[in-house]
Amino acid sequence: MSVIESRIENHLGRIIINRPDKLNALNNEVLEKLESSILDFNQDSSVGIIVLQGAGEKSFVAGADIAELSCLTAEQARVQSLRGQSVFNLIEQSSKPILASIQGFALGGGCELALACHIRIASESARFALPEVSLGLIPGYGGTQRLARLVGMGVALDMILAGEMITAADALRMGLVSRVYPATELNTQTNKLAETILSRGPKAVALALKSVRDGLHLPLAKGLEQEASLFGLIAESMEAREGTTAFLEKRKPKFHRS
Ligand code: COA
Repeated sequence: MSVIESRIENHLGRIIINRPDKLNALNNEVLEKLESSILDFNQDSSVGIIVLQGAGEKSFVAGADIAELSCLTAEQARVQSLRGQSVFNLIEQSSKPILASIQGFALGGGCELALACHIRIASESARFALPEVSLGLIPGYGGTQRLARLVGMGVALDMILAGEMITAADALRMGLVSRVYPATELNTQTNKLAETILSRGPKAVALALKSVRDGLHLPLAKGLEQEASLFGLIAESMEAREGTTAFLEKRKPKFHRS
């Protein structure tokens, strides 16, 4: 059985991290196969959205594989950190939205993986932490950078320096996740959100994602400039013609995936 299962369900590319006996910890094999699944789905024009989840009910991902981290030299650890970062950058840079559907533990590298996704939706059972300092380490797959950008420096430092687990309710309150549901509803609600996004203009979704993501790393004036350019690009597309005409004709738009 592969450590990554992937399949396409009606334009939804599903990726399941499948090491439940190790709480889906990220070893190098998982990173490699995760990378190739993301690349495959990004190249496949039939895929409009990607959902990332962990196998089993207990864990999304309980971190980088501690067994692989326990005796690295400084140079090996730096290379390992760059390797994880490069896979997570690929996720963040995906032209198709990537939705993390989180139940159980999202710890260390698992929390960092969720942070690299575009939307995080969790079950009430989800637990989040960056506990690396309790192992005598620091987060190395983007956690020290992405968490502060998402929730602000004070809250990020609280999580990173104390290394404590927080509940899904706390994660929702601080903006680490955007939706929380009872565990029994998580899959249904994740699929529902994915279908809603899939029903929108596909080019508009891709350009809106690009505008928000790229804008975060730009000064406001530059971000606004880019937004105007992308707005120009989408406004003259067939997709915008269809969306606006459908509104005026009081009917549902029919968008096409190329
Ligand atoms: N890396 C490697 N293996 C891991 C792992 C990780 N990050 N997290 C869990 N596992 C393994 C355990 O070693 C155990 O394997 P075993 O059955 O062969 O002994 C298995 O997954 C089940 O975990 P276990 O600890 O027995 O489950 P639990 O319910 O008692 O505790 C956790 C769950 C999540 C609290 C605990 O596993 C934990 O603290 N994991 C590490 C979390 C962490 O520090 N992550 C950051 C890494 S940088």
